[in-house]
Amino acid sequence: MAFLYTLAVCISAALAQTGWQMPASGLASMSHYDLPTGYVGSCGCVGDSSGNYPTAALNQLAYGSAYVYGPGCGRCFNLTLLDTWTSTPPFYPATHPSVVIKVTDLCPGYSAHCQATAFQPNEFGFYVHFDLAYPSLAIPDDSFFPSNVTKYGYTDFGLWNITYQSIPCIPNWPGSSNPEAMGSVPNMGSRCAPLPTPTS
Ligand SMILES: *[C@@H]1O[C@H](CO)[C@@H](O)[C@H](O)[C@H]1NC(C)=O
Ligand SMILES: *[C@@H]1O[C@H](CO)[C@@H](O)[C@H](O)[C@H]1NC(C)=O
Ligand SMILES: *[C@@H]1O[C@H](CO)[C@@H](O)[C@H](O)[C@H]1NC(C)=O
Repeated sequence: MAFLYTLAVCISAALAQTGWQMPASGLASMSHYDLPTGYVGSCGCVGDSSGNYPTAALNQLAYGSAYVYGPGCGRCFNLTLLDTWTSTPPFYPATHPSVVIKVTDLCPGYSAHCQATAFQPNEFGFYVHFDLAYPSLAIPDDSFFPSNVTKYGYTDFGLWNITYQSIPCIPNWPGSSNPEAMGSVPNMGSRCAPLPTPTS
């Protein structure tokens, strides 16, 4: 594990050398993925976070590492839905719900929509992509994502334009008062505990 951690630090350092830094807020794309309740993702967050509270994977560039623990681990973001531009026709909802998530997982650079590099955005023109753990006990089916089933015939658009905003996990993240969800797997060099919110 020490070797893996060293490796992760080296890769983070290599990424840092590109000079790219995740802006504290901005536009991003968002998809969702299946994360079993209690699953320990790349950040090593203990089981109490995944599924019980809103979590997401962050694309490799923004996460800051190609492997396990990255500087993105443990950070919390307020994600606000804008519209679905890949649907036909695009869907511009009447409401723009938000969810505060904690980053507990890596969306690797080979995954769909997570290929952005410091020099090239993903296929939608974004350098930041969130992959929301959904469905999940923490995000109720049928009440978070706006839809219009009479018009589209389905409710799950899959891909959204969103705005994101870096915010302190405490007290904003729903799991922030649960020490188990805020903590980390002991002695693994995990980065699940939130770091100080970067000022930039
Ligand atoms: C999240 O963003 C929305 C939209 O800007 C805002 O209304 C809401 O207050 C924010 N939530 C937090 C916890 O900052
Ligand atoms: C959503 O993203 C697409 C692709 O980048 C873009 O064409 C569209 O204008 C965006 N919509 C908003 C509201 O940002
Ligand atoms: C759904 O779409 C139809 C057709 O465009 C529209 O008349 C209706 O108001 C929409 N419903 C909602 C809830 O947006």
